[in-house]
Amino acid sequence: MTEWSKSTWRNLPRVQMPEYTDSAALAAAEAKLSSYPPLVFAGEARKLKAELAKAGRGEAFLLQGGDCAESFQQFSADLIRDTFKVMLQMAMVLTYGAKVPVVKVGRMAGQFAKPRSAPTEVKDGVELPSYRGDIINDLDFTPESRIPNPNKMLEAYTQAAATLNLLRAFSSGGYADVNEVHSWTLGFTEGEKAEKYRAMATRISDALDFMKAAGVDSSQQHTLQSVDFYTSHESLLLEYEEALTRVDSTSGKWLAGSGHMLWIGDRTRQPDGAHVEFLRGVQNPIGLKCGPTTTAEDLKILLNKLNPQNEAGRLTLIARFGAGAVGDHLPRLIKAVQEEGANVVWSCDPMHGNTTKSSTGYKTRAFNSVLNEVKEFFAIHKAEGTIPGGMHFEMTGADVTECTGGVRAVTDEDLSDRYHTACDPRLNASQSLELAFLVAEELSKRNAEQAAAALAS
Ligand code: PEP
Ligand code: CO
Repeated sequence: MTEWSKSTWRNLPRVQMPEYTDSAALAAAEAKLSSYPPLVFAGEARKLKAELAKAGRGEAFLLQGGDCAESFQQFSADLIRDTFKVMLQMAMVLTYGAKVPVVKVGRMAGQFAKPRSAPTEVKDGVELPSYRGDIINDLDFTPESRIPNPNKMLEAYTQAAATLNLLRAFSSGGYADVNEVHSWTLGFTEGEKAEKYRAMATRISDALDFMKAAGVDSSQQHTLQSVDFYTSHESLLLEYEEALTRVDSTSGKWLAGSGHMLWIGDRTRQPDGAHVEFLRGVQNPIGLKCGPTTTAEDLKILLNKLNPQNEAGRLTLIARFGAGAVGDHLPRLIKAVQEEGANVVWSCDPMHGNTTKSSTGYKTRAFNSVLNEVKEFFAIHKAEGTIPGGMHFEMTGADVTECTGGVRAVTDEDLSDRYHTACDPRLNASQSLELAFLVAEELSKRNAEQAAAALAS
């Protein structure tokens, strides 16, 4: 393979990236960004990698979630807090179900650039370039708004820095205390007939009471009061990524400083393309979306390119096939991974293969399809004897109506009530928690089966 530098991606074919028209403005924005401090520190990325390595072995479980696209307009402390809060609630439910630590990674503090299925968008007979995320252009449907503006990278950096600052404060400042997190979880089932969820919440309470009685008070226990919370985003806008990439003085290796974990999207995973080239050279843990069109042959090339040392925790494969289709694709990709002897974390994104158009014209996802894809993911790993290592969701702490179904059933007609996403439909707080309970059930079933098998052998 040819030598890597943080700009070798520029020599390769690129897709889904904007054509900036003002090259002087682009160069100025890149120069400015290159002079700014990175947002994350290499030691944190290495720590995350070690935790993901555990998820790959079934000793931890990855929970990755957040907005489809972060927005400059919908940016507030409350929204960050609410999403963080739901992630912690989900993590609590999963920790309880899986009896392993949950690795918490937000699609936050950098998730601004979006790949699109079409380069242009037509409304009332007018055709304009597609919206590509707030780091590139604006959502408003006017010709000026859709021109890519390199200065938006600087605004994205500032917003990411402020978001990360608040997340760090929440993570260690007492907000994430285990007893607090649990009290939020209790509220979820009030007034609803979700008996089994209430039962699990009660068992968590009992466990906390037991720990208190045994003298493990959270006020004395740093581990129960603070959490490690990591950031991630799709590494799509490579000018932004390159400008924040720095050498880590401890290891001498390159680190993408824009977030702890970066992933390659389903539309930009060409083995000889710019996005794969950029990510192969940075030491961060990385994700690779695998969709129905991922071939076993390409996957093998990618495994070798992206993780030539076969380092555990380096590569998370994020399966996103759609409900009903997991059986057609996951087994053949698991086989490819096994044939290469590759170390990977298998994660499930039950969102992106399940996007539909509602009868009322909204882009939505049926909660049932999301649940079904999760169940299929677990069933196939069980059949193959491989490890389901994590989940990847688009969710928000806000009480939106973007996906249909769930305990507090959202109908096609309800979608217009609170449809706020700048891009794909997200699970709301209640739907996210319901899903966490389902995944916890799957994981505890898996634990019980493994324990039974161990006894029998
Ligand atoms: C996303 O995660 O928002 C996304 C665009 O996913 P995918 O690349 O899997 O379509
Ligand atoms: Co999305």
